[in-house]
Amino acid sequence: MSRPVGRAAALAVLAVGLAAQAWATGNVRRLVAADATTVTLETRSVSVVFGKVADGRRWGILHLGARQADAADAAALTSVRTALKYKATLGVPEPSAYSVFGSSAFKEINRYGGLAVRHADGTLSTELVLRQTAFVADVPGAEHLVFNYCDEAYPFEVTQHFRALADVDVIETWVELTNREPSAVRLLRMDSFAIDLPRLSDTYHVHHLTGQWASEAQLVESELRRGETRAIGSRSGIRDAWEGVPGVMVSFGDRANERQGAVFGGVLCWSGIWAISARRAPDDSLALRAGYDLAFGEYVLDSGRTVELPKFAFSYSAAGKGGLSRNFHDWARRWQMPDGQKMRPIQLNSWEGAYFTFTEKSLHGMMDGVAALGGEMFVLDDGWFGVGDYARNEKDNVTVGLGDWVVNPEKLPQGLAALAGEAKRRGLDFGLWVEPEMACVKSRLYESHPDWVLRERNRPLRTGRGNAQVVLDLVNPAVRTNLLGQLNALVAEAGGLAYFKWDANANLLNVGCPSLDAAHQGNFPFDYVKGLYELLGELREQNPGLAIQACASGGGRADYGFLRYADEFWGSDDTDARERVFIQWGESHFFPAQAIAAHVTKVPYGDLARRTPLKYRFDVAMSCRLGFELEPRDLTADETAFARACVADYKRLRPTIQQGDLYRLVSPYGHSYAALMHAGKSREQAVVFVYGLSRGNWSDYPPPLVLEGLDPARRYAIEEINLPSGRAVHSDAVGKMVSGAALMSQGVPFFLTGDYDSLVLVLQAR
Ligand code: GLA
Repeated sequence: MSRPVGRAAALAVLAVGLAAQAWATGNVRRLVAADATTVTLETRSVSVVFGKVADGRRWGILHLGARQADAADAAALTSVRTALKYKATLGVPEPSAYSVFGSSAFKEINRYGGLAVRHADGTLSTELVLRQTAFVADVPGAEHLVFNYCDEAYPFEVTQHFRALADVDVIETWVELTNREPSAVRLLRMDSFAIDLPRLSDTYHVHHLTGQWASEAQLVESELRRGETRAIGSRSGIRDAWEGVPGVMVSFGDRANERQGAVFGGVLCWSGIWAISARRAPDDSLALRAGYDLAFGEYVLDSGRTVELPKFAFSYSAAGKGGLSRNFHDWARRWQMPDGQKMRPIQLNSWEGAYFTFTEKSLHGMMDGVAALGGEMFVLDDGWFGVGDYARNEKDNVTVGLGDWVVNPEKLPQGLAALAGEAKRRGLDFGLWVEPEMACVKSRLYESHPDWVLRERNRPLRTGRGNAQVVLDLVNPAVRTNLLGQLNALVAEAGGLAYFKWDANANLLNVGCPSLDAAHQGNFPFDYVKGLYELLGELREQNPGLAIQACASGGGRADYGFLRYADEFWGSDDTDARERVFIQWGESHFFPAQAIAAHVTKVPYGDLARRTPLKYRFDVAMSCRLGFELEPRDLTADETAFARACVADYKRLRPTIQQGDLYRLVSPYGHSYAALMHAGKSREQAVVFVYGLSRGNWSDYPPPLVLEGLDPARRYAIEEINLPSGRAVHSDAVGKMVSGAALMSQGVPFFLTGDYDSLVLVLQAR
């Protein structure tokens, strides 16, 4: 969705100009060279040097790397002259902070731009000229630099923002495109991030996540070859994080590992179609692109309109992938996610314990069960809504009801208020599953508004899940208003609902949008996501206490666009604990523990015959946001006692797990076990998790586990938790008191017995 130009940021009013200056507050610094040919923007340990290129007409990024003690040093060691000399010789694009098709200092045009515009008169090139550079006012801790460009021949403007966030080493960037030409322009490429770096290295490795339903976030690492590599992307339009989480890491020089290596990383804050690609040019310089992918058609930007492209947040670490992940986690908690520093409650979700088969009585039983375990929230999953023929019951399950967000009176005769009251009586918050973006063709909503769904003009409607599901047209304000009304009514009816599990079990099935005219059809996948964000934003604003879980058939919405509005995401529908070790490992590259929902379930899961011990399932789920998805009645007395103890310990350790620093110690890839730890920010406490995977015989005994993130000067008491009664401890170090220095050099000896043995150690500074 675009907006009228009138609402564009009043740059001139906010700008403080760009005179030569050196300025620092807390950890953010800016340095503007005396001749204003370089601007250095710095966070705690990252430095970005922008330099004027193309005869001063545009900004390029001349350096992106570690911060120097003296900001002037970083600028002093950059060289526009060498960067341009080699570029010119090789005929590849000049360094650029936003690479645009058609703009170039050389005789050749830049064919690799991340933005490409067909202007109103049909001209395909865009020649940007800098109009203004300014630091604009922002909140404390943020330094906000803006470049404003206009085409030299057309009133087409590009405004690029860089917002450096002091203490988290992350720089957010986004771009606004404004069309003041007499008629519409067509965007043929519209990347959020399109940088062409000078040759800062001659070897690069790309690290990213790829997957599918029930095996999300599998880590892929490879050397970047010459040429263009479309690292990852998704054309689902909705389950955008299945094929790959919209984020990437690139190491410069030797391949970065968890502790070492220079590594850049970025996440695209977007929940629709996207692509991230890298180009290693013939001279081994690097170009990176990330943004909305126009795979469904060009975007038409009407005259007098501005469109804001999705935000890209990037960081750099000289301390390997681990350091980079910690930057993203801190950024997510402090700047991106709602209530990012609030503890996430322990919930029981009804899905795997009940599926569609429940009564008020059985739900009350589940509530009793989770309350007895020490849980804090009860979430009623699918199957509670729809009326009459469209009631979502056991028999018809997924074929009916989506769109009619009213309680099914046959299943829940006392209504939502009563059910929420039962939860409250047991000291539990109450949450509900919804799938607001979709409708079933068998629903009152669809029957009264067949024009409210995405559909192609002259083709039969394609249907999704249950051969019944369609996607609503969120571009249409009337649809959004209806949904907001229905969701608000649920919150009110439940007497202040605590939580929505916001599911989305579809892709863009039908590639047509009834609320857009023929000329603007190509805009719909982009405008859909903007409409979704508007709806989510209003829902949150109108219900301040409400939390949201992002779900899209599992981890399909693990993206920072949705997480601007959601408190967490469902890690995967795959709840097999061994598989979850890999999935959560992958997700942890970009997302903090408190954002990854992980539930203890019964075994076996799905088609897997695997029966992991309850302890293993707890140990795996407790490294993220712990919850349950089972019928508590099925637990034996011993298991219940064990689960209670685990929950009590999780509550005690929650600030460290959910808000601490994550260190990935031993990768599940290539090892017969995996290990990770969360160290509290104050270094008072740490929690270490070790998971057996496929253990060998005698020869496969693990070396001591070398820890990280502790205070070398302090002594830590070592405790083992999550031990079922009668089980011996896994380490002779348990019960001892050892210095952080020794734990981080000599390491902790431990052993594992069998494939799915696991251990959890707590280190407490004394
Ligand atoms: C999706 C979700 C599940 C569950 C079902 C309900 O598959 O990922 O967790 O909520 O829908 O239909």
